[in-house]
Amino acid sequence: MHSFKKHVLVCTNEKPLHCAQKGGLEILSAFRDEVQKRNLGAEIYVSKTGCTSQHHCGPTVIIYPDGVWYREVKAQDVPEIIESHLLGGKIVERLHNKEIGLKK
Ligand code: FES
Repeated sequence: MHSFKKHVLVCTNEKPLHCAQKGGLEILSAFRDEVQKRNLGAEIYVSKTGCTSQHHCGPTVIIYPDGVWYREVKAQDVPEIIESHLLGGKIVERLHNKEIGLKK
């Protein structure tokens, strides 16, 4: 069994005007590349997810087990999310979708 510390879910739904068309696939690649570059593959698992009904403010990225959802993410935001949130434990507030997430 392998236990990751964080799971990053990137919405890549390919319907018109949904997250893939807004950059979801580039974000997925950016997370995978950055995790590999920083040798974090044993701690951080990156995967696609389907629609989570947030495409009006997509692309959506979800971080578990934290239950934090990000909105309007761009590929260039990925290093900051990794550095600040995944490694530093500090949510990137300017991208935080406070309309949805786990109840604390
Ligand atoms: S397509 Fe990404 S949230 Fe719906």
